[in-house]
Amino acid sequence: MTHFRPTRRTMLAGALAGSGLLARGPSALAASGGAARAVYGAAVRGDALANDPAYAKAIAERCRTIVPEGGLKWAVIRPNRETFDFTEADRIAAFAGRLGLGLRGHTLAWYGAMPAWAEAITSRVEAERVLTGHIETVVSRYAGLITSWDVVNEPIPDDPAASEGLRPFVWSRTLGADYIPIAFRAAAAADPAARLVLNEYDVEFVGARFQRRRDALLGIARGLVDSGVPLHAIGLQAHLPADRAIDRDGLQAFLREIRAMNLDVLVTELDVIDASLPGDVDTRDRRVAETARAFLSTVHEVVPPSAILTWGISDRYTWVPMYFTRSDGLPNRPLPLDATMRAKPLMAVIEQFTRRAA
Ligand code: XIL
Repeated sequence: MTHFRPTRRTMLAGALAGSGLLARGPSALAASGGAARAVYGAAVRGDALANDPAYAKAIAERCRTIVPEGGLKWAVIRPNRETFDFTEADRIAAFAGRLGLGLRGHTLAWYGAMPAWAEAITSRVEAERVLTGHIETVVSRYAGLITSWDVVNEPIPDDPAASEGLRPFVWSRTLGADYIPIAFRAAAAADPAARLVLNEYDVEFVGARFQRRRDALLGIARGLVDSGVPLHAIGLQAHLPADRAIDRDGLQAFLREIRAMNLDVLVTELDVIDASLPGDVDTRDRRVAETARAFLSTVHEVVPPSAILTWGISDRYTWVPMYFTRSDGLPNRPLPLDATMRAKPLMAVIEQFTRRAA
């Protein structure tokens, strides 16, 4: 299903013709005094980009980088062993190209979206062949376009104390902990210029489980760095339940360790889970913004993240109600724009930590 294959050249030509790129160049940034701050971006859905002009406009106006929310997951691009279906990812890549937006890739190894045919693999040799073959095809296709990849996503179990080491799924079952360096090395081989990210959730809160998760993530990162595996950054997903306190000391100590390893930090999937907050919209939006501010300022004091992406841009399209519906039945409000694309207080907080869009 390779109906449209954007080449680097056509994509870049499209970007320049759209002219956004020139206005967004480094000198413009330096002149605006914002060079040290993160780029802002959001996860996007191809169908909404195509069918909802207000949404596409909001993305175009506010984002400097985007990431497909689902379009690069195994379940989408690998419906069966023989097929690669890049329809959704290409649509999003073409949009980024036209507007001169950066593009991130999510994700190459994640338990959460495995097709049954791949999950059924049992042999080590076959697992390595399928995993590295997938990474080689997908990463090289978008080389030069996708400049940053979530290579491994969520390798740590919910509670690392309650289970053994790594989250169980096909790659950890067949390859053990080696699946992580195997995936990073394959990604680097396919695009030596790409920034390679290890992405996790639930590392920012008060409590023993979260400390164990920070320790486990540091252990993986250190193992990779010590053995010369190409790892460039840690991605903090930052799906933040508003009723959970940020562990300021714990998170900052963790980030100092990350810095000591010379790794960058990205905020990759920020949103605020508002299921526990009062229904009143003003109160709720204020609390959502405060939650994000507490997190971002804690991170920023130790390491300014190189990018801050929210997981969606508008409350019109958010994954949050799939898992965190409100008991009062009101729609969730986790994102920087409301369902009518109006900026909420969360957007103002994000703007304090990011460069302006243009
Ligand atoms: C979610 C998407 O937002 C949903 O639309 C999809 O159905 C399931 O996955 N952590 C991740 C993301 O790394 O890939 C998840 O995205 C949200 C949690």
